[in-house]
Amino acid sequence: MNQRSPGRHFLQIPGPTDVPGRVLRAISEPPIDHRGPAFADLSRSVLTGLKRVFKTSGPVIVFPASGTGAWEAALVNTLSPGDSVVMARTGWFATLWSEMAIRLGLNPIVLETDWRRGADPEAIEATLRADKTHQIRAVCVVHNETSTGSVSPVASIRAAIDAAGHPALLFVDTISSLASIDYRHDAWGVDVTIAGSQKGLMLPPGLSFNAVSPRALEASRSAKLPRSYWDWRPMLEANAGFYFPFTPATNLLRGLQEALGMIEEEGLPNVFARHDRHAAATRAAAEAWGQSGALELQCQVPKDYSSSLTAVRLAEGHSADELRALILRRFNMSLGNGLGILKDRVFRVGHLGDFNDLSLIGALSGVEMGLKLARIPCGKGGVDAAMEVLTEAAVAQEQA
Ligand SMILES: Cc1ncc(COP(=O)(O)O)c(C=O)c1O
Repeated sequence: MNQRSPGRHFLQIPGPTDVPGRVLRAISEPPIDHRGPAFADLSRSVLTGLKRVFKTSGPVIVFPASGTGAWEAALVNTLSPGDSVVMARTGWFATLWSEMAIRLGLNPIVLETDWRRGADPEAIEATLRADKTHQIRAVCVVHNETSTGSVSPVASIRAAIDAAGHPALLFVDTISSLASIDYRHDAWGVDVTIAGSQKGLMLPPGLSFNAVSPRALEASRSAKLPRSYWDWRPMLEANAGFYFPFTPATNLLRGLQEALGMIEEEGLPNVFARHDRHAAATRAAAEAWGQSGALELQCQVPKDYSSSLTAVRLAEGHSADELRALILRRFNMSLGNGLGILKDRVFRVGHLGDFNDLSLIGALSGVEMGLKLARIPCGKGGVDAAMEVLTEAAVAQEQA
């Protein structure tokens, strides 16, 4: 193969995702004075626009940080040393979050899963009912587990907490679901929503978010975990005048303003429908390939299928990492790797962010050719099956 890879790189990891030209151009504008009036205008538009994406009337706090920073901010602002937190271990990211909780001096009560489904509201309810003295202060759930392609039912988890009559707060990680999969901070009774910039919001990595409920704000007044950079209070005070207590990531915020505009132009319901359609097409392809018995979906529960990525699991004896390396070398496409116990077992196809039907077909063609090249037994017609799903959706839309 030549050293140079002509044509565009296919970045099919489940985030960071492709950044649209409009957003890149906005980011490349000269930095502005973060204490001047132009910044206040930018900040007002971004902080207001974010509320519409999180579906909240409360504040959304923006930290210059990766998503991990927003996990930490949620915990340290609301909890005290030794507090118990229920954590549904649905995959690698839920595991990392529970490890962070231990490092912060919290006591995670981990509800295990087989990493092939979302969190179980009944298990959460039973754990809360058994906690008669209300030692548990929070329930932490990853909405879309990026390592497995499984979604947890947030509204049912809130209903389970309420059914148990338990006062625990509900924290939800939407790092790979916000602006890709339907999500409602207020309507689903979430206390802190955690998100990041580099996936559905179509930005580079570098911004993270906490949407905060009145109950979470109340909890922050008595929470005793040490915090400084992550403290919500100085941030909210400065944000009241549309400024920040430290230098904000001005250029990323300008990119965010552009990205929020693009999401509004498309309309959030259409954004979700597009992600649903691409996920359905990808599963149709995977199902056809899987007729050989050599591969299957990692998520085993249809109601939990993710619309932002699909994790495909290879049978024993096949290496997902070798397949990914071959596809990168030969077709200039990056696929997501297997994480934690799924290392070398799965490859993940990201279909989120600024993405369309033909890009998806290109990506799935790369996977299908890669499977053949790697001599992994592969059922026929995967890409055809995906095209069928997309064509049917297009016909329905044209007729509407
Ligand atoms: C669901 C989820 N949670 C947390 C993280 C960690 O976020 P970051 O790598 O931006 O710190 C990721 C990253 O991919 C993720 O997908």
